[in-house]
Amino acid sequence: LRVAVLVSGSGSNLQVLIDAVQAGTLPVEIVGVISNRDDAYAITRAKDASIPVAVLSHAASGKRMGIKTFETHASAQIATWQPDLIVLAGFMRVLSAEFIDNMSAPMINLHPSLLPAYKGLVTHQRVIQAGERQHGCSIHVVTAELDAGAVLTQALLEINPKDTADSLQTRVQTLEHQLLPWTILLISKGVLSLNNEQLSNQKPTY
Ligand code: GRF
Repeated sequence: LRVAVLVSGSGSNLQVLIDAVQAGTLPVEIVGVISNRDDAYAITRAKDASIPVAVLSHAASGKRMGIKTFETHASAQIATWQPDLIVLAGFMRVLSAEFIDNMSAPMINLHPSLLPAYKGLVTHQRVIQAGERQHGCSIHVVTAELDAGAVLTQALLEINPKDTADSLQTRVQTLEHQLLPWTILLISKGVLSLNNEQLSNQKPTY
């Protein structure tokens, strides 16, 4: 399975994938990484692992690339890598419906909540404020509607009375680092199928 990874930040999830591939526990090839930020530590992680990395952060003028420009460059780059799977791992830009629909490989996203609850940003803080007792992370198929595609896998934790948004972030990240390689392993083994029309067209029923 050829896997392309899109990142925006520290890339700790990318690192667990790199480590699992190198350890021989995840039989996939990470064919390339795209970062939409030039200061993402994920870039260093990819380079250290000799993975091709494209930084699509700034136009020649020094201004932030518009989403259309980003998508044009990202599509062309992804096409050269010919991935079987595209993984958004801490990728923080919203992609257009056109870009998503035109991808030649299925795309999955890692989201820090138990979807369909808490789509969008600052999930940990909202979960604390709402007095929830459980939290976690989800991996879902990317569709045009934000964080709303079919949920593939989830990992769950019980919230302690002493938890804060910060502690939840740390605890959820630990879960993410297990859920992401595990989910990609299930996809690579064909246990989880993404080439299923019903799955990619599934509309949320909640
Ligand atoms: C993850 O917690 C993810 O859920 C969130 O951004 C973080 C990315 O972390 N959307 P990293 O870049 O993989 O370290």
